[in-house]
Amino acid sequence: MTDAGRRVRITEVGPRDGLQNESAILPTAIKARFIELLADAGLRDIEATSFVSPRAIPQLADADELMAGLDRRPGVRYPVLVPNERGLARAEAAGVDAIAVFTAATDAFTTANIGMTVRDSLDAFRPVLARAGELGWWRRAYVSTAFGCPYTGAVDPTIAVDVARRVQDLGVDEVCFGDTIGVGVPDQVAELVSLAEAGGIPVERQAYHFHDTRGTALANVAMALAAGVRSFDSAAGGTGGCPYAPGAAGNLATEDLVYLLDASGWEHGVSLDGLLVAARFIADALGKPLGTKVGQAGGWDPRTGAATGR
Ligand code: COA
Ligand code: ZN
Repeated sequence: MTDAGRRVRITEVGPRDGLQNESAILPTAIKARFIELLADAGLRDIEATSFVSPRAIPQLADADELMAGLDRRPGVRYPVLVPNERGLARAEAAGVDAIAVFTAATDAFTTANIGMTVRDSLDAFRPVLARAGELGWWRRAYVSTAFGCPYTGAVDPTIAVDVARRVQDLGVDEVCFGDTIGVGVPDQVAELVSLAEAGGIPVERQAYHFHDTRGTALANVAMALAAGVRSFDSAAGGTGGCPYAPGAAGNLATEDLVYLLDASGWEHGVSLDGLLVAARFIADALGKPLGTKVGQAGGWDPRTGAATGR
């Protein structure tokens, strides 16, 4: 029997957040295959690409072609990043039905990332989210640098919550707090979850996007789970980061997240073995060894003590 309280939603961000920060630009067919392997593994939320300026993110310049050719499975959501109305028009033409807009807790970061202050970004998103709402699309908003900014340092969590509340007011299904440069620790996570809830963002609508830059991502997930959060981002193979955040390397690896969730009795629908196939595929395509913890060690069968998914 499914216990709704033990259900976690994993948003796979490897094809977008992972690949945008890899120096290799992969062929569109490889990206499509990666996404299909992720769906085969049971992922039901796969952030596929970004409809941003190809000058800003050349790695994802093929977004239109990718979405046009992708074998989209029923029951799988394929959100794409959209920074402005131009991106929305491209997404609409590509038959998308889920988007993410993205701002941050600091003006310094949004200015470097999208050439707008936080306030200007919210103005830019207003018509985008309104139109997406009319179309019945699923809508997410990222608040990046929620735990720290590469340009201005420490971030006051009340500022992150204030931005989140303002973007929520524009109409979104989920607000995702991003630890863009991987500096957050569990106590900060607990504080942000409760401040956000007190600020009018219900825990059911909060998602968390951790980077493992300093090895704290899984500890942060555990704390967020204890605080009631049930939606997490991760990237198969632990690829990526954010090109505008110096030193940001590696999203939380989906295989590491899935191992933790499985062993702790959380339901999520993802097969670790299938995921390792996808993670190995993308590591091979990027010409890198699969460096994630579970990628190297495999899973573990508690009945036999044997490694699995090798
Ligand atoms: N899709 C494709 N091209 C776009 C676009 C979109 N959504 N929005 C703008 N452009 C093009 C413009 O046509 C213009 O092209 P040109 O130089 O050939 O004339 C160029 O991008 C610059 O557009 P402009 O309106 O002057 O804005 P800008 O230079 O301030 O860039 C963004 C603003 C938002 C388009 C750009 O910063 C961007 O795409 N950032 C995305 C960053 C990102 O994805 N970060 C990852 C998340 S951490
Ligand atoms: Zn990220």
